[in-house]
Amino acid sequence: MTELTESTDRARTDEPVAFPQDRSCPYHPPTGYDALRERRPLAPITLFDGSPAWLVTGHAAARALLSDARLSTDRTRPGFPAPTARFAAVRDRRIALLGVDDPRHRTQRRMMVPSFTLKRASELRPAIQGIVDGRLDAMIAQGPPAELVSAFALPVPSRVICALLGVPYADHEFFEAQSRRLLRGPEPADSLKARERLETYLGGLLDRKRAQREPGDGILDELVHQRWREGETDRAELVSLAVILLVAGHETTANMISLGTYTLLRHPERLAELRADPTLLPAAVEELMRMLSIADGLLRMATEDIEVDGTTIRAGEGVLFATSVINRDASVYPEPDMLDWHRPARHHVAFGFGIHQCLGQNLARAEMEIALGTLFHRLPGLRLAAPPEEIPFKPGDTIQGMLELPVSW
Ligand code: HEM
Repeated sequence: MTELTESTDRARTDEPVAFPQDRSCPYHPPTGYDALRERRPLAPITLFDGSPAWLVTGHAAARALLSDARLSTDRTRPGFPAPTARFAAVRDRRIALLGVDDPRHRTQRRMMVPSFTLKRASELRPAIQGIVDGRLDAMIAQGPPAELVSAFALPVPSRVICALLGVPYADHEFFEAQSRRLLRGPEPADSLKARERLETYLGGLLDRKRAQREPGDGILDELVHQRWREGETDRAELVSLAVILLVAGHETTANMISLGTYTLLRHPERLAELRADPTLLPAAVEELMRMLSIADGLLRMATEDIEVDGTTIRAGEGVLFATSVINRDASVYPEPDMLDWHRPARHHVAFGFGIHQCLGQNLARAEMEIALGTLFHRLPGLRLAAPPEEIPFKPGDTIQGMLELPVSW
């Protein structure tokens, strides 16, 4: 009996680490997670409200568990882990795709996949290039200096997702502000209010699209006219889908562009190598995704007991995935803290893995390649316009990225 307990609870007696923590350098995991690197693949953690959960830190275990149907993403399940008070405030709102298990998830994903294939992303490249050129023209006309987040990193993905979904870009200040509040509002109640405002706004937009005789050419128009009208989905589900597509579609990529730019400027040799050989760009984007791991703390709950490397995760326990630690597993990525355009970084989990792997990854890759490639090509003298340690970045309890990025050229 004793033997069984020991062999099935190896990690349970480890000292729990607080999760999440702030980074001290925006492109490295928090130093508070250093101990976790020695304790792969699983460690006990304590969440903001003192409740216990598990943190997956090993690469192989992460990919196995993210493909395991015994882990649920349904946030409305009692006891689903909340990493922040803000998340706890919106936890019982149903969120499409990311908060839905199979079989409903499969149906929702099937509805969306044709709009997000590699082919569709490739077809969008000229339009993305046009948006990137336009933002750079405007920034160059007004500078130097410039604040890169507001002048470039945010408006590029925001315009792209608006064009793609069929959301009027004229409303960008509203939805950008609400997304910001949803993901990192000062008070938990702000997040709920922001979510409600986004739902009301997008619900109204969907109703107007439904009332139109001829559909427009955005993804939301397609969903309204082909799926809602045919009864394959309903208004509530479409509103929830529209919220996740709009929010995930601009915030995440904006953070990768700002933090990616900062990271490249802090690694001049790697930047020079990239400038000398632009064919390295796709590999560089992949390596930046691995290194930066901006969505750091994916959330699941066990619905059955699961054995992981001598420890049993029990049904009902929360399971989080520290992508920043998983993507620096030295058994997969030798010298994991180094940026290296020549390593095979593609198997990182920065876009997640399994059935919930990022729907927008092909689009995001195209946007990052074009945005970073064009920025450094057009502004060979781009540099930080403030001491690096004074440039503010986001706290550890949200998607990682730069709050501001003062640059000159
Ligand atoms: C570089 C930018 C991006 C990063 C780092 C990122 C990261 C992620 C991650 C880690 C997940 C999985 C979460 C989980 O398993 O818990 C995810 C899912 C998702 N992402 Fe992204 N994402 C990015 C860009 C985008 C874009 C541009 C869209 C556009 C629509 C998007 C839409 C989604 C959706 C809808 C899901 C949920 C998929 C599902 O549950 O089936 N993402 N993303």
